[in-house]
Formats: sequence, C-alpha cells, structure tokens
Amino acid sequence: MSLNLLMLGPPGAGKGTQAERFARVKGIPKISTGDILREAVHTGTEIGLRAKAVMDRGELVGDDVMIGIVRERLERADAVGGFVLDGFPRTVAQAAALDGIMSSRGPLIVVDIVVPEAELVRRLGGRMICDECGTGGQIGSAVGAACANCGGSLVQRTDDNQAVVLERLKVYHRQSEPLVEYYRVRPTFRSIDGAQAPDRVAADLAAAIEAAGSVAVRPGAKG
Ligand code: AP5
Ligand code: MG
Repeated sequence: MSLNLLMLGPPGAGKGTQAERFARVKGIPKISTGDILREAVHTGTEIGLRAKAVMDRGELVGDDVMIGIVRERLERADAVGGFVLDGFPRTVAQAAALDGIMSSRGPLIVVDIVVPEAELVRRLGGRMICDECGTGGQIGSAVGAACANCGGSLVQRTDDNQAVVLERLKVYHRQSEPLVEYYRVRPTFRSIDGAQAPDRVAADLAAAIEAAGSVAVRPGAKG
C-alpha cells in the first residue's frame, strides 16, 4: 500500500525538516508547496511573480492556484507509490479538494507537529536558507556563509523577518489550524511533540506513522 503522508503544523514547526528526512528514508517524494512557490519566484514564472508579494506579506496564495499545482504534482509517476506533503493543505477548501484527488488512491496519514509559539518565533528568527538550492542552514549561521549542499550563499527567507513571522502565525491560526479539527476525527490522524530535538521528533513521527498505517489497512477504515 502506498504511504501518503501529510504534515500539519504552524510555521517553524519542523514540517520541512521532518518531511525531507522521512521522504529520503522511504524513497518517496517530498512535495513542499512553499518550496515549489519559492522555486517559481526564483525562476520568475508567472505564478512566482504573482505569489511573491503575497508570500512576503505572510498571507496565503489563492486556493485555486495551490490546488492546481498539487493536483498536477501528485499525478506525476514518482508520486504514485506515495508522497510526503508539506504545507498543503492550508485551508479547509484545499483539504476538501485533496480528499477528491485522493478518493481513488488510498488513505492519507495526517501528522500534526505541535510546538509552542515562542519556540516557533525563535526558530524562524534564526533560520537561514540557501539562495540557490533552498536548503536550510544551521540556525544562527551568518548571512552569506556557504551552503553545505551546493556552495550558494545563505540568506534569511524574505518572510522570516519578525513582523511577517507574526502575521504568518495569525494566518495559521485563522486559516490553517481548523484543519486539525477537520482531520482529528479520522483514525489515521496523529499528533506529535515537535519541541524536542530533531532526532526525537523523527522517531516519534516514524512511530506515529506506523500506528496510523496499521489502522489504515484494517478493513473498513477510512483515512
Ligand atoms: P512554507 O514554506 O510552507 O512556510 P511555513 O508553513 O510558514 O513553514 P516553514 O517552512 O516556515 O516552517 P517548517 O514547519 O517547514 O519548519 P522548518 O522545518 O523549516 O510556506 C511559505 C509561504 O508560501 C506561505 O506563507 C504562503 O504564502 C505560501 N504557501 C505555501 N503553501 C501554501 C498553500 N498550501 N496555500 C497557500 N499559500 C501557501 O524548521 C524551521 C527552523 O527550525 C529551521 O531552521 C530548522 O532547522 C529548525 N528546526 C526544525 N526542527 C527543529 C527542532 N526539532 N528543534 C530545533 N530546531 C528545529
Ligand atoms: Mg517549510
């Protein structure tokens, strides 16, 4: 059975960090809508040009655009055997569209990463990413330091300044947190403590997925 994993959590919860790691171990694609949009901004596509201002304000790009991007991405051959979705869905409308896309593809396992707000603000204030490949650097790395992955320069994400971080958290509470209630009623929903060291979070994530996956394969279970 394919492993279709969806990571929920506020900005800075560690969705990208854990999704990357888990997808690599399992050999399935990590599909991060934030990364897809940043790549579109970097290459200057029409979607990227329109999305940049919205992202820099900490708001959400429109549902229709995001659903179209994800629908197309999930149809590619490498996602047929499973995937990790990071940053999608972010609204109830996106979640309903994903249910439609997944109706003939087996259950979703949904993991919500929980982290206190002060820790989210601390993490995002210190995060650096590579301006070429988007890889994250160590928290506290100097601006301009070399990326360990490709040698590009580390920069602060344009939406990681303090004012925009606070706006992103507000947008999360208003538009994305309702998804926790949307999915909580499903037997394949799990919640994990994301305030631990990354290795501990990864171990809890793997255990949560294992437990949710065994529920999902029981006859009659709906993910
Ligand atoms: P997106 O890129 O998805 O940003 P986000 O949800 O705000 O989440 P982040 O990437 O900031 O955090 P994360 O949870 O991935 O944490 P990370 O692993 O990096 O979206 C950006 C924008 O794109 C949105 O604001 C919106 O405009 C648009 N967008 C994207 N998807 C959309 C959608 N579906 N609909 C509409 N608009 C959309 O970790 C954070 C930091 O903490 C890192 O430095 C990391 O090294 C560190 N860290 C991670 N885990 C730990 C740990 N356990 N302990 C200590 N440090 C840790
Ligand atoms: Mg991320």
